[in-house]
Amino acid sequence: MYILGIESSCDETSASVVEMSEGVRAIRSNIVASQIAVHRLYGGVVPEIASRAHIEAISSITREALEQAGISLSQVDAVAVTANPGLIGALLVGVNFAKSLAFANKLPLVAVNHIHGHIAAAYLSNPQLEPPFLALVVSGGHTSLYRVSSYTDLEEIGSTRDDAAGEAFDKVGRVIGLPYPGGAALDKLAYEGDPNAIKLPSPALTGDTLDFSFSGIKTATLNYLNGMAQKGEPVNCANVAASYTNRVVSALTQKTELALRQTGLKTLVLAGGVAANSHLRRSMEELCRQRRVTLAMPDRALCGDNGAMIAAAGYFRYCKGELSGTDLNASALDEPFSAD
Ligand code: KG4
Ligand code: ZN
Repeated sequence: MYILGIESSCDETSASVVEMSEGVRAIRSNIVASQIAVHRLYGGVVPEIASRAHIEAISSITREALEQAGISLSQVDAVAVTANPGLIGALLVGVNFAKSLAFANKLPLVAVNHIHGHIAAAYLSNPQLEPPFLALVVSGGHTSLYRVSSYTDLEEIGSTRDDAAGEAFDKVGRVIGLPYPGGAALDKLAYEGDPNAIKLPSPALTGDTLDFSFSGIKTATLNYLNGMAQKGEPVNCANVAASYTNRVVSALTQKTELALRQTGLKTLVLAGGVAANSHLRRSMEELCRQRRVTLAMPDRALCGDNGAMIAAAGYFRYCKGELSGTDLNASALDEPFSAD
């Protein structure tokens, strides 16, 4: 069956047609209109500007997704849309568009949790992947460990208590002069520096908890940079990138290993925008090799926000009959779907 997936939770407007059925997981189109260039002027996402840009893009992006897939709206079997969590104004654009499309064309509507969508991206890149597995989702807004018991049963077993990993990457990138979002540039720069040059606190909380905290390492990095500026000493940005990346990647790897031990799960999925980080991917490969755990990651192109991951997650909810009506409401929070 063909699922049209719509994503507008942050600064990417995306529509995708995914063909899913028993044994078939195929992306027929995945159009992403990024607003990065607009938000770069402000050093971060401006919610009101994001909502307006989604409104401008969403119709043409959807038309393009259908055209590229070579199908008409009448051949679509269901519409899946990100309903939470995210920027409320941005989410409302996608949700209202999807509701109108579903209502006007008498199509089933499926609400999708954005984080579950990131995890579902791994099904598209790994055709054999099936639950149960452990998932680490690292994105601009989230850093969480999930026990995935079935395609639709996902339980958060650890998370950040403050900032997300991606948000912290972007903040550090910004203060060392990298353009927004700094994550990908920091990834490259880290290869040129010494990962042990600067002593930074670990984002992994001590003890048996699977929680993280990124505010400490973020502040420590800013204090280090301010201290250097006050002393008039030059900063080696590559050393900052390498030391910061090293500490974050070790913390994520450490808690993932603990979660694998605690749950006994034998498959790991690494997902979310930060899952594109090459140091993190390598560290997880090493961890899984040592623990004889199967590692499944979305292709790097599917790590960031996109409609295909929403369509994939939507397919499994559709199969379970978890449909929404025109009273579906968007929510900024990670909570069960609400209606008006
Ligand atoms: O999942 P995503 O597209 O959006 C959210 O749901 O938040 O993630 C975006 C985040 C940004 O913070 C971006 O800097 C980060 O992913 N990111 C990276 C890399 N590529 C993207 N962070 C570290 N290394 C990368 N290679
Ligand atoms: Zn995301």
